[in-house]
Amino acid sequence: MNRRGAEGAEKGEGRVMEGFLFRNWYIVCTSGELARKPIGRTVLGIPLAVFRGIDGKPSALLDKCPHRNVPLSKGWVKNNYLICKYHGWCFDGQGVCQEIPGLCHRNEARHRNAVAYPVIEQDGFIWVYCQAGELPKSQPYEFPCLRQEGFSTFSKQMECETTLENAAENFLDATHTHFVHSGLIRTDNQRKEITVKITRSENMVEAVYLNEETISGLIYKLLAPGCNKVISISRFILPSIAQLEYRTDSDRNRLFISLFLTPVTKKLTKAYSIITFRSWLPNWLGRVIAQPLFAQAARQDKEILQLQTWNINRFQGENFVFTEIDVLRPHILYLLKPGSNENESLVFEKTIKMKI
Ligand code: FES
Ligand SMILES: [Fe+2]
Repeated sequence: MNRRGAEGAEKGEGRVMEGFLFRNWYIVCTSGELARKPIGRTVLGIPLAVFRGIDGKPSALLDKCPHRNVPLSKGWVKNNYLICKYHGWCFDGQGVCQEIPGLCHRNEARHRNAVAYPVIEQDGFIWVYCQAGELPKSQPYEFPCLRQEGFSTFSKQMECETTLENAAENFLDATHTHFVHSGLIRTDNQRKEITVKITRSENMVEAVYLNEETISGLIYKLLAPGCNKVISISRFILPSIAQLEYRTDSDRNRLFISLFLTPVTKKLTKAYSIITFRSWLPNWLGRVIAQPLFAQAARQDKEILQLQTWNINRFQGENFVFTEIDVLRPHILYLLKPGSNENESLVFEKTIKMKI
């Protein structure tokens, strides 16, 4: 996921999106969602028709038939082709028009082809590279420990009216947990002073929360009772991965909560959460306990994010102030908007104190 080669801004759904964001892989749906019928999805403002041929291979075309511009996602799949529902033009996974019903003399004509995007199926998700006609130089993100023995994974998805940067900040920010997730993740009257080390590199920023020892909320008590020396790490990885990692003094306990944030448009974000863990509990029991608790936390975050968006719209734009404990947002913005601050060096490192 290289952010180099940014070429200014491109348009997506009428809103400006950073150009380099298009040269990355995004989750468009789960493998299970893509069955016999094509489905319509939007990524970075690009409407896509995603379909699976009978050979099982997924493909993604711009959701616009080149003939009379009807959405291809409303058509159907025949063999390995996507058929447009208006006049039955037939496209393969590369977008090549293979058949035009009623046309006696068929010849090759590139302008009759649909626009195709690179697609990969990996780890139970369908990933699309958002630059048509380009050979991707990267692979989709690989979630940590997902394929490792002894770990268990579950995932969910949620759509929220918010921007990519507000969603990422919310998920990675420790200071809202005492209020939005009071009792569930942290409790306001049990704060202690800790050290946070922030490190930024070319494609990632992370905050390591040192010497927190234990976390006051219910989730922690249930999943890692009696464990001390908790280290939690918040990461933002380009193009749109927000990730929390928890380690304790017992090597048995590892937890990764990764959010893959697919920007549908500038103001609508789809979050695919991938929760991978190993704990002192049998994995099935850890899953039974963790799933409803994480679902509750997700609902709480969605509610506050939508409230934030509603008010930003009411006041016609964001107007934020910062303190040093807003540890990640400036760096998320730096990574997402290359060239926004030419004077700042790429690598950043700082240690601060805060009470959480
Ligand atoms: S609009 Fe698609 S075949 Fe005519
Ligand atoms: Fe939250």
